[in-house]
Amino acid sequence: MSGKLASDYSAWKQLQQVYDSEHSKLILKDLFAQDPTRFSKFSKEYVDSSHPSTTFLLDYSKNLITQPILSSLLSLAREAQLETFRDKMFSGEHINTSEDRAVLHVALRNFDDFKIQEAGVDEVSKVLAHIKEFSEAIRSGSWKGYTGKTINTIVNIGIGGSDLGPVMVTEALKSYSKRDLTAHFVSNIDGTHLAETVRECDPERTLFIIASKTFTTQETITNAESARDWFLSTAKDKAHVAKHFVALSTNTKAVTAFGIDEANMFQFWDWVGGRYSLWSAIGLSIALSIGYDNFEALLQGAHGMDKHFKETPLENNLPVLMAVIGIWYNDFYGAQTHALLPYDQYLHKFADYFQQGDMESNGKFVTKGGQRVNYQTGPIIWGAAGTNGQHSFYQLVHQGTKLIPADFIAPATTHNPIASSKHHRILLSNYFAQPEALAFGKTEEEVRKEVGSNASEALVKSKVFEGNRPSNSIMFPLMTPRTLGALIALYEHKIFTQGVIWGINSFDQMGVELGKVLAKNILSQLDKPADVTGHDSSTTGLIHYYQKYRKE
Ligand code: F6P
Repeated sequence: MSGKLASDYSAWKQLQQVYDSEHSKLILKDLFAQDPTRFSKFSKEYVDSSHPSTTFLLDYSKNLITQPILSSLLSLAREAQLETFRDKMFSGEHINTSEDRAVLHVALRNFDDFKIQEAGVDEVSKVLAHIKEFSEAIRSGSWKGYTGKTINTIVNIGIGGSDLGPVMVTEALKSYSKRDLTAHFVSNIDGTHLAETVRECDPERTLFIIASKTFTTQETITNAESARDWFLSTAKDKAHVAKHFVALSTNTKAVTAFGIDEANMFQFWDWVGGRYSLWSAIGLSIALSIGYDNFEALLQGAHGMDKHFKETPLENNLPVLMAVIGIWYNDFYGAQTHALLPYDQYLHKFADYFQQGDMESNGKFVTKGGQRVNYQTGPIIWGAAGTNGQHSFYQLVHQGTKLIPADFIAPATTHNPIASSKHHRILLSNYFAQPEALAFGKTEEEVRKEVGSNASEALVKSKVFEGNRPSNSIMFPLMTPRTLGALIALYEHKIFTQGVIWGINSFDQMGVELGKVLAKNILSQLDKPADVTGHDSSTTGLIHYYQKYRKE
């Protein structure tokens, strides 16, 4: 990085020239026709060296790349000193410079492989032991609520990274879950979220998990206080809170001030970024839902990918390949978004999770050195589980005017082989068909043959698929905790790599602050119209409208 903008790198300049002179010639149909070995050249199988059944295939052949372009993209990563920054992360250097913090989610799933010096790293196994002991007590029924009944419902109260990871993973691994332990996740400050959740809870049998790294987040603390009020309206005695509320946090003082026993606090550290925290104590709801051994397998799976990222030459390094191909579209083709399209209902929260993971990490317009970038940084991440998306937004992906690179993700085997896996075969036929349709499209000539000579010109044109729309395909044998761990870490390291190339700090989130401050000020003005001062006419008008119609 060294104070340079990414656009100053010679590889960047070279890539710009290649784009300008060659992009119109990069036609997937031709690239495949010219090289029958394209798939084997541009696909790789990941195999976890210590657990070979944890594996997946990454097919990146349907991208608008050639070997020389890929080589230049990798030169760009080298020029940005990716390997140096990667080593700095793994060794615990404070690469989150604005907050002077290490970035060590990899230490949460390290299992003794990398040597890291940082306060708290040696306590990771203690916290894991605490998670194991507690989750087993809840799951076995040895932990009793205040009336002596077992816990049958858990409610994780958190937001952002203290919510999205646990929700995404518990959904993804639902087939491993204890079905008689219901998991709810309350995040929104909108009271409806909590109110509708507690309707389904029995205070005698519910455990609230207050998940907040800082333990100051307005939404979480307000929801936690209201949950405690709801609980005490039945339980009455504050002493019962100890059996029904636990905390996941770095902030012991605030946790104990809330009334949660320190013994029921699960610690983590400031080197765990919120959006990288599901591997920490924040994963307690995951361990409760799927059991500690499965939680540990998730961590092991991520650790396997960490080793791959750390040790594999860039040419074969899957997160790096995905990252640089993403940069090719984002910075040279001008693509604004990247779609995550899992053909697996269990992964229906995957895109939501990486919306925070990617957009909070790489949505930055200044470099670490404070310079404004003159190129695009993080893309807009979005998506939905297939095949639902096909019946809503795929029209635009196929025939719209925007280039939307996408990742298609699917398991070869389903956990739910109903109707002799008929559903799964139909699902997968769509998973295979969509990238094919996007890449190769349908020509006017093909359309004419299909519709016959009486069809209008307008109809013919409307049925043409231009194709040449790029995608990655990821396929794995079965959704397991290890595979999921590896997949999440794959994307985490992709995000890291892109952040290094763009020269930005992927580990702070200053962009969420301004709105919070303004909301605090507005909250103090909501009671009386006369109090509403210091705003533009639009904001003032909106608040006055609210004051006219509210009925609280
Ligand atoms: O949205 C900002 C943010 O700080 C996220 O980075 C974080 O995941 C979330 O708020 C929740 O923070 P906490 O865990 O401290 O409540």
